[in-house]
Amino acid sequence: VASPQLADLAALTEVVGADHVLVDDDVRAGYEVDWTGRFRGRCRAVVRPGSTAEVAAVVRWCGAHGLAVVPQGGNTGLVGGSVPGPDGDGVVVSLHRLQRFDPVDEVAAQVTVGAGVTLAALHERVRGSGWAFGVDLAARDSATIGGMIATNAGGIRVLRHGAMRAQVLGVEAVLGDGSVVSHLGGLVKDNTGYDLAGLLTGSEGTLGVVTAARLRLVPDPPDRVVVLAPLPSVAAAMALCARLRARVPGLEALEAVLGDGLALVCDHLGLAHPFPADPPVALLAEWAGEGDPPDALVEIFGSDDVLVAADGAGRERLWRYREAMTESISAVGVPHKLDVTLPLGSVAEFADAVVGAVQAAVPPAAVHLFGHLGDGNLHVNVTGVDPDDERVDDVVLRLVADHGGSISAEHGIGRAKVPWLGLVRSDSEIAAFAAIKAALDPNGVMNPGVLLPGEG
Ligand code: FAD
Ligand code: MLT
Ligand code: ZN
Repeated sequence: VASPQLADLAALTEVVGADHVLVDDDVRAGYEVDWTGRFRGRCRAVVRPGSTAEVAAVVRWCGAHGLAVVPQGGNTGLVGGSVPGPDGDGVVVSLHRLQRFDPVDEVAAQVTVGAGVTLAALHERVRGSGWAFGVDLAARDSATIGGMIATNAGGIRVLRHGAMRAQVLGVEAVLGDGSVVSHLGGLVKDNTGYDLAGLLTGSEGTLGVVTAARLRLVPDPPDRVVVLAPLPSVAAAMALCARLRARVPGLEALEAVLGDGLALVCDHLGLAHPFPADPPVALLAEWAGEGDPPDALVEIFGSDDVLVAADGAGRERLWRYREAMTESISAVGVPHKLDVTLPLGSVAEFADAVVGAVQAAVPPAAVHLFGHLGDGNLHVNVTGVDPDDERVDDVVLRLVADHGGSISAEHGIGRAKVPWLGLVRSDSEIAAFAAIKAALDPNGVMNPGVLLPGEG
């Protein structure tokens, strides 16, 4: 296999047009570093195909030249999967130009969109149809539907609607061999073989490039209430979440900011502290339905300290304390971001143990905890440590495995967690992953070094 010189890249301009093959160092730079600044690589070029056929031609060209394909959407991924590896032998394939947007199918409650459509654009286009898209997350202005499918993104409404996999009814994709698969009919019942959409969801760009998707929509209730409550401990918060889940139909979100999180956000954004004293846990709950919320919600939260908002601006104000955690932490330094799930019954014990464990292993570390408490999903973020010091990742992920949890709840494995996949997946499972990869990506071009061990 011949490795192309820069001049050979000109062949790609015939496929996508000269404006869409980017080779200048300055221009490539933004595509070569991840959102956190922890993961940096190099690529030969950034290519921006404008159609599924162009994506297929680019993938085939990379296969013929032995170059890695690194799919990239909004580059908001937090595990280094959207940026190339250090060897420079890859091409970033940016999917932004795939902006297909079919009319909302109001009868089926479905819509077909291109991979490059952002989450915010999808929410906007669906608004007013009587339906909504069931996944939401703070990176909505940049994160793309293709990237969200590739990571099986979760976000703040998993409690009610599930993660991306639950919304994806079908995909169109270019597989690693350059072939195109398309199954966008959106039939409610369709038992005709392997679930390729399910397989591509969460595959992190290692099997193929998602170019479009048929998505499920959900009802859009007219009334919403957000509550922000101070609680004395994670154990108290978990007990309260269990009571809410049992007695309050229509819960959309159960989120939390722990420890110094509120102070961090207030300092970073110049916001007023929401409570007279920052509590050990600030629990945010959102209910959605028609009319007044159930009496049980009021009864369970019945305390003077609780903040409540029913209007849009007020709800947004309360959400800010939770959603601004990511940017507030990055303002402190380049974080190690460990996104983990625990069995719900072990969350409190894990949260108490993890801070001491990290500080014992890497003494200067500061540990910030927040996340989707109702899903047992904690974000353990660590600052004050060299981005390359993997002792942090090691101690947290081993503690997670010891508690019966998962080393990735929603961000994926990416480049960040490959060495620890074996903590939660058996040798047989990893061999099955490798066999699937070899079948769909026989040239091994799709995002090598991401997700699967042994690819360097
Ligand atoms: P990218 O970052 O570009 O790529 C992510 C992965 O998908 C990479 O492996 C890439 O190769 C692959 N990929 C991208 N596009 C395609 C495609 N079309 N076909 C095949 N593979 C592709 N994540 C959550 O799950 N929940 C959250 O609550 C959440 N909140 C966030 C808040 C902030 C402020 C930020 C910065 C990030 C957050 N994230 C969250 C992480 C991130 O937004 C998600 O992982 C999102 O799904 C990434 O989408 P993207 O388009 O930016 O993908
Ligand atoms: C969140 O829940 O805010 C995101 O997953 C982002 C993060 O982990 O920083
Ligand atoms: Zn999250």
